[in-house]
Amino acid sequence: MCGIVGIVGQQPVSERLVYALKRLEYRGYDSAGIATIDGGALDRRRAEGKLVNLEARLNEQPLAGTIGIGHTRWATHGAPKERNAHPHFTAGIAVVHNGIIENFAELKDELTASGAEFHTETDTEVVAHLLARLRRDGIGRREAMFAMLRRLRGAYALAVLFEDDPLTIMAARNGPPLAIGHGDGEMFLGSDAIALAPFTNEITYLIDGDWAIIDKTGVHIFDIDGNVVARPRQVSSDVAYMVDKGNHRHFMEKEIYEQPEVISHALGHYINFIDNRVVPVWDIDFAKVPNLALSACGTAYLAGLIGKYWFERYARLPVEIDVASEFRYREIPLSPQSAALFISQSGETADTLASLRYCKEHGLKIGAVVNTRESTIARESDAVFPILAGPEIGVASTKAFTCQLAVLAALAVGAGRARGTVSEQEEQALVKSLAEMPRIMGQVLNSIQPKIELLSRELSKCRDVLYLGRGTSFPLAMEGALKLKEISYIHAEGYAAGELKHGPIALIDENMPVIVIAPHDRFFDKTVSNMQEVAARGGRIILITDEMGAAASKLDTMHTIVLPNVDEIIAPMIFALPIQLLAYHTAVVMGTDVDQPRNLAKSVTVE
Ligand code: G6P
Repeated sequence: MCGIVGIVGQQPVSERLVYALKRLEYRGYDSAGIATIDGGALDRRRAEGKLVNLEARLNEQPLAGTIGIGHTRWATHGAPKERNAHPHFTAGIAVVHNGIIENFAELKDELTASGAEFHTETDTEVVAHLLARLRRDGIGRREAMFAMLRRLRGAYALAVLFEDDPLTIMAARNGPPLAIGHGDGEMFLGSDAIALAPFTNEITYLIDGDWAIIDKTGVHIFDIDGNVVARPRQVSSDVAYMVDKGNHRHFMEKEIYEQPEVISHALGHYINFIDNRVVPVWDIDFAKVPNLALSACGTAYLAGLIGKYWFERYARLPVEIDVASEFRYREIPLSPQSAALFISQSGETADTLASLRYCKEHGLKIGAVVNTRESTIARESDAVFPILAGPEIGVASTKAFTCQLAVLAALAVGAGRARGTVSEQEEQALVKSLAEMPRIMGQVLNSIQPKIELLSRELSKCRDVLYLGRGTSFPLAMEGALKLKEISYIHAEGYAAGELKHGPIALIDENMPVIVIAPHDRFFDKTVSNMQEVAARGGRIILITDEMGAAASKLDTMHTIVLPNVDEIIAPMIFALPIQLLAYHTAVVMGTDVDQPRNLAKSVTVE
């Protein structure tokens, strides 16, 4: 949801700003820009579209200067055009912003009435004009920054350059994350530590309400009341990761194929492979909680839905789950004895964070299932359950999803042990199944690609696709539909197989492929009946099942993808692989931008 960077250096910064922005492109790629101060003059280059366009612009018209800020945008207010690209300039002030200024309309009216001329449709431009007005009134830079921040309502990570101070960047955080990097005689600023990884691994995170003055010798941090505050300087582990595609065409492909490795890493944290037991790594006493609240967004929410089946089945723990954008406003009655788990790859999703804070206010014990251990959601939680997937760059989540599932499965089994609903023998059997997952995933990934590629060519010609499943295969059907629509732009819906006859069956004809996810589990026969209903109406069935299911189903399908027989607890992770690959290859056939699909962003730090 927009990425921002800043460098106060001793060497020219323009190339390094773009390099850091590339590492933030997952946050948005509608337009990009950088601004520097050189010879006492502020200048900028901006370009619509991805960073390659900005690079081309900079090749034609380079930008000198040893201090600068940069931005890659996911449009909220104003079309993704160059005129709305950041940095925004007015009266010798440059601003980049991630977030939404909620009272921008009111501020804009006020500023316009006092003579300000706006050149963009963005909410951000009010920040530059507010600062300019304060400076015109004779207020110093630091005081102007402080006074300006007090006028803002909403979410922001901001970086500001003043032309009359070529040695300093000012920054502020309220909501979206902001990391300050300490270099050798240089200082850096970025939306995350990964952006700063090429320059430093020594990071100070601002917390909400903080603002900072950065020069090449260091940083001074202030709280919302203007008091000097100290924030810890830490060595970031995020920077250890290489962010490249290896031999793969896309990050998404690489991340799909990385799953056996990262899942085994994640599992290693939660289970003991020697005695097949769950390692009690959590600070939440599941034996004592009467129920569990789960909340998340997007793919993480669908992982949570599958988690609900597991917590209820194995731990007999009732689960309340909702998408975070609803959860935070539903005024759910919550008891302080309960626990709440928030699932988030980035750990920064605004709605998920707001739901977490809602539960915290109600005294619940908070757990975070996150990929980014240094994220805000992790830092505000009582217990952190890392999914250890490594950086996920493809906007469509794949390995984070299966790692979230692996962690939730281990937690549910552990909760079952704590609550006495899973015996020691059952725990060992379940853990043994979980431990087999990386091997089986590898086997599936090595065998299904040719069939999937064939099928993708057919899917790419369709306008709509329906996904069906029962039990944990129902959220997986929704995830399959989400993956396909996100990256191929084909309309797709995921439905509970039993709901077919309550509506979607009206859509079935020979043009509508129906992808049925049906491992040979306790629901298999019922799902086969639903497939019969599709077949009877001329629908084209693509069945994703296992060897037993393939042998038991006598139906005439358009295609059947056969996976190995696996235990029920690992089926969602194994069956996730064909649905991810199907979406991926369909998008490749259609020639869409797989890693950076239109209108989406990976980290959504606005409501
Ligand atoms: C965006 C991403 C999804 C992700 C969702 C939640 O929509 O495109 O891939 O599942 O946000 O993000 P989180 O970081 O909280 O898991």
